[in-house]
Parts: sequence; structure tokens; C-alpha cells
Amino acid sequence: MSFARIAGTGSFLPPNVISNADLVSRLASKGIETSDDWIFSRSGIQSRRFADGQTQTSDLAAAAASRALSAAEIGADAIDLIVVATTTPDAVFPATACLVQRKLGIRNGCAAFDIQAVCGGFIYALTVADALIRATSVKTALVIGAETFSRLLDFEDRSSCVLFGDGAGAVILRSSEEPGILGAALHADGQHAEILKVSGRIADGGVLGDPFVRMDGPAVFKLAVGALEAVSQEVGAQCGLEMSDFKWVVPHQANIRIMEATARKLGIPADRVVSTIREHGNTSAASIPIALDQACRDGRIRRGDKVLMHAVGAGVTWGALAMQA
Ligand code: ACO
Repeated sequence: MSFARIAGTGSFLPPNVISNADLVSRLASKGIETSDDWIFSRSGIQSRRFADGQTQTSDLAAAAASRALSAAEIGADAIDLIVVATTTPDAVFPATACLVQRKLGIRNGCAAFDIQAVCGGFIYALTVADALIRATSVKTALVIGAETFSRLLDFEDRSSCVLFGDGAGAVILRSSEEPGILGAALHADGQHAEILKVSGRIADGGVLGDPFVRMDGPAVFKLAVGALEAVSQEVGAQCGLEMSDFKWVVPHQANIRIMEATARKLGIPADRVVSTIREHGNTSAASIPIALDQACRDGRIRRGDKVLMHAVGAGVTWGALAMQA
């Protein structure tokens, strides 16, 4: 049996660090009150990065991809599939994946497309790439989560604008005889479409409707923990693994309280949960590959370790994936 295995990871964060104090003064200038203490105690976030006006999602994605290619020690021309999970594409079309292909100088005609499952996007993208590697002639896939989420934030809505940040993470997924991705499960339930959304759309030469993130925070919180627990157990059962078999959990970095509550329900100790939310905030589809890259580079995740990833996002979408590093 052949597998798809991660051969290298990379990430890129825009240099502009926005602290909670920066947001407190930005909101204060509009007469809106918040505090470092409120933001940190409710979300675990101390700072996040915002891309400057010239930087597009595809720039962050291509930078993360270059680092993943170096880590895997392969050239860009070896890539025969590009999948980008993003909620904040450079344009309605072409797909950000095609723009990344161009920025990396890949001219071999490989397939390239985007996946839109919001914060659940990276799990969706990795699962699709895994399936294509096992079912088609694709041997080497570049799978990216990339966001310029700051562009969707309403800095007059203190309940959502303090939570999100920008960044990108990438993995090189290669066909392998050695175990890599062991199993995955994806779900969605459009009945909950209203609890987290950017409902505006482009039409007739402008944006029709609301161009900003709107969120029912308590509803998201409640739904997220139950969905993540169930799908993690589902993937564990699919692979014949107990939660205690996973050396590391790399969750979507939604909010430290969601991450901790989910780990508690799964019986996974907090020190086995990879967390970058303090410095990066919630980078939506980018958060898992950024956290994965950090934990691989700092030596926490080692070859052979069993790793569980899980995510929930607007839609709502959710999923989990088990792999052997
Ligand atoms: N600063 C100060 N006060 C605030 C702020 C802020 N930035 N934002 C909201 N408040 C106020 C509210 O106005 C409210 O005041 P009121 O009682 O006078 O009306 C009070 O704080 C409590 O508001 P709640 O929304 O009930 O606060 P809660 O304790 O639920 O925390 C939060 C809000 C952090 C959003 C929480 O609901 C949560 O963690 N939800 C999960 C949402 C999430 O993580 N989303 C990430 C994106 S989704 C994803 O990635 C899956």
C-alpha cells in the first residue's frame, strides 16, 4: 500500500507585528473600548501579524512554499499539484493556486486550485491532496494554507477584529511506501452558515452586502468543541488509534479556550497540543500549517510521531486528519 507523506514544511508571516496594545489604541481612536486583558483572557492572543497593503495572499503563500521546498530538498518543478486553502484569495479568479504556481516559476502544467472551507480549509486541502496522490499519477503535491484575513476585519467590531491575523504555511506531500497520512474525515453543516460569515459579494461593479466578518462567538464556541471532539474520535477509530497514541495534536488555532476545552474532552494533556495562537492569533486556513512548521522546525515533532490535526470553520466545516510524521 502506498501513502502520501509530508516531506517538508514551511511558513511565512508578514513582518508587521500588531500587539493587543496596538489594537487597543486603534479601537480607542474610534471610541471603542477593549483591553489587553480582555483579549488575552478570552482568546489567548497577545499579538498577530498584518500584511501591508501591497502584499497579497499569494505572496505569503509563495514565501511559505519556497521554505517548504527547501525543507523537502526538491525543486519547484517537481511539484505536480498545488492546492491552496484560503478564504482571502487575491481575486475572485484566477485561483490563488495558479498565481502561486506563476510566482514559483512552475511551468510544467501541473493542476492548481483553491479550496474554500474557511478555517477548516487546510484539513480539506491535505485530505484532497492525499486522495489525489493515492488515486492518480500525482506524486508530489504542494499544499498551502494562506490568508490575509485582516482585510476582512471591521475595526469597529471589537468582538471579532481582535481575534484574527495573517500568514501562510505549506507542506510538500509526496507519494511514499512509508506511512504518512493514515486517515481523515471531513464534514460540513450549512444549517449553521449564519454564525460566522462574510456575506458580501461582488456584483454590478461593487460589493453588495457586508464585506466584514460577523460572528456569533458563543455559538461558534459551543459548536466547535463538540465537532472537534467527535471528528477526532472518528479519525482515531478509522485508523485504529487511541487519543493517547498521538504524540502531538496540531489544532486549528481558533482560540486557546476552544483548543484547551477540546484537548480536555479528548483526554490529551495540554503539553501535547501545539499552540502558536499567542503570537499569531487566528490565521484561519493558515494556522495548522504554520503551527506544524514551527513544531517540526523546533524538533518537537519527530519522524515516526503520530500527529492529529483538527479544525472547524465557517460553513460550518470541520475535519480531522491523522498522520505519521
Ligand atoms: N473587548 C472588550 N469587551 C468585549 C470585546 C472586546 N474586544 N468583545 C466583546 N466584548 C464584550 C461584549 O460586548 C459583551 O459585553 P456585554 O456583556 O456588555 O454585552 C462581553 O464582552 C461578553 O461578550 P461575549 O461575546 O459573551 O464574550 P465571550 O466570553 O463569549 O467571549 C469570544 C467572546 C472570545 C468571541 C468567545 O465567544 C469565543 O471565544 N468564541 C469562539 C469564537 C472564536 O474563537 N472565533 C474564532 C473564529 S472561528 C474559528 O476559527 C472556528
